[in-house]
Amino acid sequence: MVLSTGINRIRTAVFISGTGSNLKSLVKFSKTKLSPISIEFIVSNNSKAKGLNYAKKFKIKKKVLNFKNKKLSENNLLSILKKNNIEMICLAGFMKILSKNFIKKFKGKILNIHPSLLPKYKGLNTHQRVLNNKEKYSGCTVHFVNARLDSGKIILQKKVKISKKDTEISLAKKILVQEHKLYPKAILKVFNL
Ligand code: GAR
Repeated sequence: MVLSTGINRIRTAVFISGTGSNLKSLVKFSKTKLSPISIEFIVSNNSKAKGLNYAKKFKIKKKVLNFKNKKLSENNLLSILKKNNIEMICLAGFMKILSKNFIKKFKGKILNIHPSLLPKYKGLNTHQRVLNNKEKYSGCTVHFVNARLDSGKIILQKKVKISKKDTEISLAKKILVQEHKLYPKAILKVFNL
């Protein structure tokens, strides 16, 4: 696909494990004039991921790999991505940790979104831990992926105020709304747009 400016769009794969609401927002963004990316592939470790339905809806190729044998799944994935000329990866609610070897193959070309103000609250059960610690703010972060979990260079963050009434579910919802705006903005920033 070619941008209106004549620049080729970066062929991108999105990795998901669940609902895929960030995937949906990225697909919508990718169809806008300004987008430097086109989404050409969806990968999931979970065959029941609701987000896989977007593959059919938006006519995007997909692949499910169970990651039970990580090395085998990743090698398989690397060859599929190569065959499809994928140049960049956006992790969007992907709950598997990629190996050093895999990350090296896409060095500086994997982005992730995490539902906290990194470097605080890396890892799982973010919202519950934030609430347990009676934080006043949480938020979301888009960052480059390196070999250490949720530790790569931060691209953009958005702060979200926590109210006394917030539960794990309400906070997750509030932050997701911001995630959907932040991921496209972060991609524009990566490409200096
Ligand atoms: C999002 O909140 C994303 O930040 C989080 O999972 C959710 C996926 O939602 N990711 C992580 O926790 C990664 N450690 P989605 O499937 O609707 O995009």
